[in-house]
Amino acid sequence: MADFRLAVAPMVDRTDRHFRFMVRQISQGVRLYTEMTVDQAVLKGNRERLLAFRPEEHPIALQLAGRDPETLAEAARIGEAFGYDEINLNLGCPSEKAQEGGYGACLLADLGRVREILKAMGEAVRVPVTVKMRLGLEGRETYRGLAASVEAMAEVGVRVFLVHARSALLALSTEANRKIPPLRHEWVHRLKEDFPQLTFVTNGGIRSLEEALFHLKRVDGAMLGRAVYEDPFVLEEADRKVYGLPRKPSRLEVARRMRAYLEEEVLKGTPPWAVLRHMLNLFRGRPKGRVWRRLLGEGRSLEALDRALRLMEEEVGEEGEKEKPGPKGQAEAAPGLACEGV
Ligand SMILES: Cc1cc2nc3c(=O)[nH]c(=O)nc-3n(C[C@H](O)[C@H](O)[C@H](O)COP(=O)(O)O)c2cc1C
Repeated sequence: MADFRLAVAPMVDRTDRHFRFMVRQISQGVRLYTEMTVDQAVLKGNRERLLAFRPEEHPIALQLAGRDPETLAEAARIGEAFGYDEINLNLGCPSEKAQEGGYGACLLADLGRVREILKAMGEAVRVPVTVKMRLGLEGRETYRGLAASVEAMAEVGVRVFLVHARSALLALSTEANRKIPPLRHEWVHRLKEDFPQLTFVTNGGIRSLEEALFHLKRVDGAMLGRAVYEDPFVLEEADRKVYGLPRKPSRLEVARRMRAYLEEEVLKGTPPWAVLRHMLNLFRGRPKGRVWRRLLGEGRSLEALDRALRLMEEEVGEEGEKEKPGPKGQAEAAPGLACEGV
């Protein structure tokens, strides 16, 4: 059985292959998810660009969205052929676009279709087909309704449920939908008690490894999204505390590894900023962390990364990473960057 103990949530415009590669340098064990990818894009788009990933990214899941059993099954087959370890169906996206396309959270209102989709996907591939779902719709969720949905999906072969432990309110923006509906992790805990043979991963508002460990005592896994993007080193102790691996990389080690990665990517034609933008928070809350951000954000080049690395090596060093930031570190000027929601 695959290991679902810790996962980084799928996030559009965040969990692309560059960010995932960086996270993998911090934790060998954590499970990674792609951004949500619509089935039609897989069928008709540039597959190499959409689906390619590096072998280091395993274990990695492809998250698909759609509403047609046949096209989703075909997209799942293509994903499996690309080497993904899991195909995940999005049943949680509340965006207007998703509602117009009839996919994401709104599918929770049509369990019959969800079952058809999951059956077709399950028959198309050998890797696990999993779902990422909300507790229900429009704040009308009940534990009984949630358990019935799980049972209905389990009947067509789904064994793994990643649950963003809130309702989806379809009239609200996606951002509001990640804050306003109340979190009910205890319902996911209860699902595990009621269906011990199934795998449950809880998600939503988990800010630290300690919080994740709390959930791990009750369910099979914890999935973190924003906390990892905002401070990737939230996973610093994941390998040691969760997977029993001794490895604990320093921020500087990760930054140097990313430098080599960026160099390779630039040679393949990747714009440096596509990688660098995900590295802005690497030294978050650490001495000179804001200068790091500013140097990367202003320079947006391999040379800028070199300058930033030199500064961290000279002024902070490997040891400095362990220091708590002093008042000087805090007072450094904030960069005037418009970095998408970081
Ligand atoms: C920028 C952003 C993009 C997201 N994109 C997706 C997505 O593609 N697929 C998905 O299932 N959830 C998506 N989500 C929701 C997250 O996977 C997760 O369920 C949610 O953020 C709650 O977890 P968190 O509090 O740990 O961030 C996204 C969230 C954010 C912040």
